[in-house]
Amino acid sequence: MARLVACVLLLAVSSTYGRHEQYEGHQLFQIRGPQRELATLGTKGALDLLSAKASTSGVLEAMVKLSPEEKQQWLPYFDQRDITYTKIADNLAEILRKEEQEIELSKVAAARSGKAMSWDTYYDYEAINNHLDELARQNPGLVTVINAGLTFEGRQIKYVRISTTRFENELKPVIVIDAAVHAREWITPPVALYIIDQLISHPDDELTTEIDWIIIPLANPDGYEYSMNSDRLWRKTRSRVHTGSDECPGVDGNRNFDHYWGTSDSANDPCTIVYEGPAPFSEPETRVIRDAVMRQVNRTPLYISLHSYGNMFLYAWGNNGTLPENGLILHLAGVRMAQAIDAVALDKSEPYIVGNAANVLYYTTGTSRDWTKSVGVTMTYTLELPGYEYGFIVPPQYIKQVVTETWAGIAEGARYILSW
Ligand SMILES: *[C@@H]1O[C@H](CO)[C@@H](O)[C@H](O)[C@H]1NC(C)=O
Repeated sequence: MARLVACVLLLAVSSTYGRHEQYEGHQLFQIRGPQRELATLGTKGALDLLSAKASTSGVLEAMVKLSPEEKQQWLPYFDQRDITYTKIADNLAEILRKEEQEIELSKVAAARSGKAMSWDTYYDYEAINNHLDELARQNPGLVTVINAGLTFEGRQIKYVRISTTRFENELKPVIVIDAAVHAREWITPPVALYIIDQLISHPDDELTTEIDWIIIPLANPDGYEYSMNSDRLWRKTRSRVHTGSDECPGVDGNRNFDHYWGTSDSANDPCTIVYEGPAPFSEPETRVIRDAVMRQVNRTPLYISLHSYGNMFLYAWGNNGTLPENGLILHLAGVRMAQAIDAVALDKSEPYIVGNAANVLYYTTGTSRDWTKSVGVTMTYTLELPGYEYGFIVPPQYIKQVVTETWAGIAEGARYILSW
């Protein structure tokens, strides 16, 4: 075994050296400054805000990645504007190489577990899709896999329907959950897969028998594979149909929904990471979510889009910061889910924040959270999972913790719905 590990490690080191070179010398900074100003820089895509949250009112804290050239540009700007900054990592490429080694090791541990899918490591598109098909084969009365559409690069987007009544009981509430709309947020598919696992392994629990579930564990397979194989920080889809796509492919799936789409001039540059696309629902990935939601929207009280990171439950409206008519319920249910997670979270994890997306973060348009809310889903959230040290680079040894604690929160949300 020792020799196998050494081999795997060697392989990892030699195969990865080139891949992360583009981030050689890029540094991570924690910055803190006026919310409106930083948010504008972030939503315009000028600064890649890897995570952000309002600390006190009007003050935003964020992690940013700066290349050596960007550093020259931004640090003097920060100094001028009273934006404080602290360097938290010297070389992103080094962090990514270390992550890759940890993942190679975690694959050995996962293989040793003897299970097709364990919570020890991250899996690629093929492994996840095969796993879903296998679950459907093993649980024909409960699990249905829908081949919902092909991505730009021809990968199958699958989702899972879990129901003890084949979705035929119109009185049952439906919960919809998606993951990995943003490719680099690798911790999100394991959370979705764990929810499926828990529902299947407790077939008599009321959460399985009284609720119909739609779970999309890998909403953006093209981007995910690209993040795994070429650019760890890739966020968007990989489509190339818009003007400028040769140079700047891909669309931000979470700006592509038809809700106040096209109303923010900051989202229409294909080269930014928040590009909204050439039209609402231009992406197969967002159309799959749209169609999965619409099929039974009138009995869907809860939609959660899994993202990473920041420990937050965010609710509508993100486009203008006002609250929907059931804002109080949104907040209350969010707090219940957050508390259920906090109760079992690691000590070093920051407590969850629950709030309106525009107030906690910044204005956004075309998000799945706001769109699902606008078409009639009662409670919709963007759930930002924990990131620990380096944001969406969550070392594989934390996967078990994140999937179990997040399930505690989502189960609480589901029970809340059943108590109505
Ligand atoms: C804010 O946006 C929502 C839709 O997201 C809309 O229903 C509401 O009227 C807007 N409020 C204001 C004050 O513009």
